[in-house]
Amino acid sequence: MNIEKRPFGEVCGKQVDIYTMTVDSGASVSIITFGGAVNKLLMPDREGKLADVVCGYDDLKSYTEAAGYQGALIGRVGNRIGKGRFTLDGKQYQLYINNGENSLHGGKVGFSHKVWDAEANVCGDACVLDLYYTSPDGEENYPGTLKLHVTYKLTQDNALSITYRAETDKKTIINLTNHTYFNLAGFASGKIFDHEMWMDADSFIPTDKGLIPTGEIRAVDGTPFDFREAKKIGRDFDLSYEPMAIAGGYDHCMNFVKREQPMGAPRIVVSEQSSGRVMEVYTTEPCVQFYSGNFLNSAQYPFKGGYPQGLQNAFCLETQRMPDSINHENFTDCTLDAGEKFESTTIYKFSVK
Ligand code: GLA
Repeated sequence: MNIEKRPFGEVCGKQVDIYTMTVDSGASVSIITFGGAVNKLLMPDREGKLADVVCGYDDLKSYTEAAGYQGALIGRVGNRIGKGRFTLDGKQYQLYINNGENSLHGGKVGFSHKVWDAEANVCGDACVLDLYYTSPDGEENYPGTLKLHVTYKLTQDNALSITYRAETDKKTIINLTNHTYFNLAGFASGKIFDHEMWMDADSFIPTDKGLIPTGEIRAVDGTPFDFREAKKIGRDFDLSYEPMAIAGGYDHCMNFVKREQPMGAPRIVVSEQSSGRVMEVYTTEPCVQFYSGNFLNSAQYPFKGGYPQGLQNAFCLETQRMPDSINHENFTDCTLDAGEKFESTTIYKFSVK
């Protein structure tokens, strides 16, 4: 196991580094301190051959300018907040509007666009990268100083885990996630439609045209959102089904079946036949935004090695709370009280078959 640190550029006078952590199988992850973004993830196929299974850019400038939140840590509140507006303890807050008439992924400069402090160590059977950022009270108009500590771990069994911890000095709202785009055949392999996916989710959240939840929680039964039996992502990719027509594909919160020990078994299993790669997702979070890369079409920002972006060439599994929770009484809680400790963990575990 080893960890390598190199400079990746500079933003607003601040140095950005890239950490590459490698385990004995040859699997490795590279993470930049800008947005804590996963830039590269090498995983073996069934022959032991490594491929990079995540999208990302070669240069820091693309990370700072492009939309799409490649690989990044997302917050304070991931996903959309309707009209960027919410009320907390009787006080109204107006956030920056950066997506149609709504606020997306933390606002104008969310955690995806901050330079995080970093410390890396080999520890037991894992390479560990600790990232720290303190979001000042009132940043992006959110209340409370929010202290964040995110830990990426790559373990000898080819699992990448992310643990998010947060604490505030004033009641606030949070929804932390990661926005990595996966393609298990390798990011430069075209469409994801042949990936097979199973998901332990029995309902999903339809949205309006601005991708804001309508408030309905709809059972997946008889819809393209039913992944309770493994199927190819492309099988029911049906743009005539209204929720998918609105979003241009899958871009919805899927709600996991309630289980006593959510980490006891994977919530999602994705496999890709040509490479044999399998990715299991374990999480303490109650939901996941399944996003099929419906906006991956920015010609100006090609991926690593100049590979062009393409619609549905990668997918995100953004584990989280329900989107826009603060504006829906029937949704999961997203508030964090002063002094309360928030912690959540998601593991992306790789194997082959
Ligand atoms: C999230 C959203 C998508 C899109 C991407 C970024 O996954 O749900 O609608 O905005 O982020 O492109």
